Amino acid sequence: MATQLITKLPAILDPTKIPQHVAAIMDGNGRWAKKQGLPRIAGHQQGAQTVKSLLRCCKDWGIANFTVFAFSTENWGRPAVEVNFLMQLFTGLLASELVQMHAEGVRIRFLGDRSQVPIFLQTMMDKAIITTASNQAVTFNIAINYGSRSEIVNACRSIAQKVQANQLEPYQIDESLFTQYLDTCGLPDPDLLIRTSGEQRLSNFLLWQLAYTELYITNTYWPDFSNDEFMQAIAVYQQRDRRFGKV
Ligand code: IPE
Ligand code: IPE
Ligand code: MG
Repeated sequence: MATQLITKLPAILDPTKIPQHVAAIMDGNGRWAKKQGLPRIAGHQQGAQTVKSLLRCCKDWGIANFTVFAFSTENWGRPAVEVNFLMQLFTGLLASELVQMHAEGVRIRFLGDRSQVPIFLQTMMDKAIITTASNQAVTFNIAINYGSRSEIVNACRSIAQKVQANQLEPYQIDESLFTQYLDTCGLPDPDLLIRTSGEQRLSNFLLWQLAYTELYITNTYWPDFSNDEFMQAIAVYQQRDRRFGKV
């Protein structure tokens, strides 16, 4: 494992400072497509290739957790044809890539409220989770129908129910307990957040978890975000001085 890591890690990256968790707001698919004179959905299709390619980098470079924002709770407000296309695209990709991802040791998890996504996608999500549950090479978290505020409210509701049922005392509620009620339970907080297409905002993504995450914002559209730029982003991250409020 260690030998494989060293041979595959690009020379500019420091093997002692590999982020444990990288998250990405995959933005700019629509603008990428427009630039090529293509329909927006072509951008989503191309964007999926970027995900595949970066996931392989994570595995090869020893990044244990990779999280992507695929569909927000606000994205339901897009035209129905685009929403339907995305749901079909996620389902199709999970179906076509599952065997390969499983063979490569990818563990798939989902963030977000599953109950509101189409049944055909839920079925595929369940299959992906069950198939890959014991894999250990890299954990791939896909946020679908995810919104951070809704995640936090749901956590509060679950905790309140426990208190009401006398299974928990208010004094026992602390940060560490709270994180156990989030969709990211068990994952380390992201070390690095990448947002493509130049928007300088979080768009309701991982508000709790990103408290001390390093941000890398690039003008590159997601479908154009290459392995090379990913390597650059990690190199930039490795130069940062993470103080966590200390001196
Ligand atoms: C990101 O690309 C993909 C999703 C939100 C599903 P966009 O579709 O937001 O692309 P732009 O921002 O319109 O270019
Ligand atoms: C954020 O991108 C959501 C995803 C990448 C899934 P959006 O394109 O939806 O965000 P805004 O609207 O620019 O904030
Ligand atoms: Mg966008």
